[in-house]
Amino acid sequence: KIIILDFGSQYTQLIARAVREANVYCEILPFSKGVPADPSIKGVILSGSPFSVNDEAAPLVDVRALATNNPVLGVCYGAQLTAKQFGGSVERSAKREYGRAFLHLESDERLMAGITPSSQVWMSHGDSILKLPENFRLLATTDSIPVAAFKSEEAGLQPLYGLQFHPEVYHSIEGKKILQNFLVNICGCSQNWTPAHFVTETVAALKQQIGDRKVIMALSGGVDSTVAATLIHRAIGPNLHGIFVDNGVLRKNEFYQVLEIYRQLGLNVTGIDARQRFYDALAGKTDPEEKRKTIGGLFIDVFQEAAKAEDRDASFLGQGTIYPDVIESVSVHGPSVTIKSHHNVGGLPEKMHLQLVEPLRYLFKDEVRRVGRELGIPDDLLNRHPFPGPGLAIRILGEITPEKVELLQNADDIYVKALKSHNLYNAVWQAGSILLPVKSVGVMGDERTYEFTVALRAVTSVDGMTADWAHLPYDFLAHVSNEIINSVRGINRVVYDISSKPPATIEWE
Ligand code: XMP
Repeated sequence: KIIILDFGSQYTQLIARAVREANVYCEILPFSKGVPADPSIKGVILSGSPFSVNDEAAPLVDVRALATNNPVLGVCYGAQLTAKQFGGSVERSAKREYGRAFLHLESDERLMAGITPSSQVWMSHGDSILKLPENFRLLATTDSIPVAAFKSEEAGLQPLYGLQFHPEVYHSIEGKKILQNFLVNICGCSQNWTPAHFVTETVAALKQQIGDRKVIMALSGGVDSTVAATLIHRAIGPNLHGIFVDNGVLRKNEFYQVLEIYRQLGLNVTGIDARQRFYDALAGKTDPEEKRKTIGGLFIDVFQEAAKAEDRDASFLGQGTIYPDVIESVSVHGPSVTIKSHHNVGGLPEKMHLQLVEPLRYLFKDEVRRVGRELGIPDDLLNRHPFPGPGLAIRILGEITPEKVELLQNADDIYVKALKSHNLYNAVWQAGSILLPVKSVGVMGDERTYEFTVALRAVTSVDGMTADWAHLPYDFLAHVSNEIINSVRGINRVVYDISSKPPATIEWE
């Protein structure tokens, strides 16, 4: 495997994904952890950073020590740190360089094998390497900087390279090729990190970990929990017991459709209709956070009761935790390291004395989908939009009643079906409908109406952290608006949300 030492760059996860795309396994570690002594490590990549190597608080590692044990590739800050530690000079540039640049190759060294002259790369740096250390060889320059790529030729070290540009970003046209040269030609990695390989290894490891003990798991109909459950099921069969709760705020017919998919996958899942309990608990609550807490708390109760009734002797709790939830991120506000905690079934493992089984812990979302495909999970489920745990409860502004849920389910169903039939569903990252707590006047036939408004939301995004409103065609919006107003009694007005995130959020509550 490859270790990526993170110095806090916004692109670190992109490096990891590019390495994985080359079918090579890698892990991200905060720079402060260093590289563990592990013979399976074949190479090290040093990430970029918001710091300058000349800052007092600059995050440091001993590059010479790293390069004594493994091939090393420094990217941006990682390259500057390398140049500086070996005696080169790194200075604030008169002009900061962001965006596209074109490489002038100075050498056909194997890192650059197969790279075309004037290849476009993407830059994002304030400092530049002005002078290389002695015994370092220049591999490429650009019009604006003297050092865009280099190699060390110091005796006694493993191959040591630096790139001033970001090979991991999309706009570095041959960046993936350069990374692949490093991984395969220089580190000697075998490219066997494939979905099929992952499934075989993970199923074997799960068998080992679980043996003939039992696992319980809360399923949500989402991609992660379904793929995790299917993997565990491959390993231990019906000793995995899934529980899928209808909390009354799922999408229309979702409960039965998802249970049917689980049945087809052969999973041992119990569906629990707890709608009334959720409606009772939500009655009179209007504050978004209170609604979230109510649903989260009651979910735990319902899950625990079901688990107790049927699986007194379970030893493990299965979870669909994925890699972005567990990567320790380096804070850019100082050298401290913060850890994102996964928002799991709140404290259940401790309460129920269960150990965790998290087979997707090291996968990115796109890898989860590829593994899901390998496992034969239908595309329909794998390509689903994200759907929040509190469901329609945070898309019905104000108080939740079963009547309002039904109204929104019907409108939302028309919207989602239309997105699919117009081939727009996969073009947006997430879409949904929101029931507004205001009534307005309309006219239908000769009658005056006084009914609710539905807002349609659709966004494009990569990770939900930032999002743009999707520019859906007017004709499509007109069609959906007509359908909803004509067929959902109680709604006489449809609006489209044209806010991006930030400053708005994707959900309205
Ligand atoms: P916002 O509204 O914060 O949403 O822009 C970003 C993403 O997170 C989802 N979301 C939630 N998911 N429980 C969840 O499981 C929640 O309470 C919750 N709130 C927001 C939202 O659907 C979007 O994908």
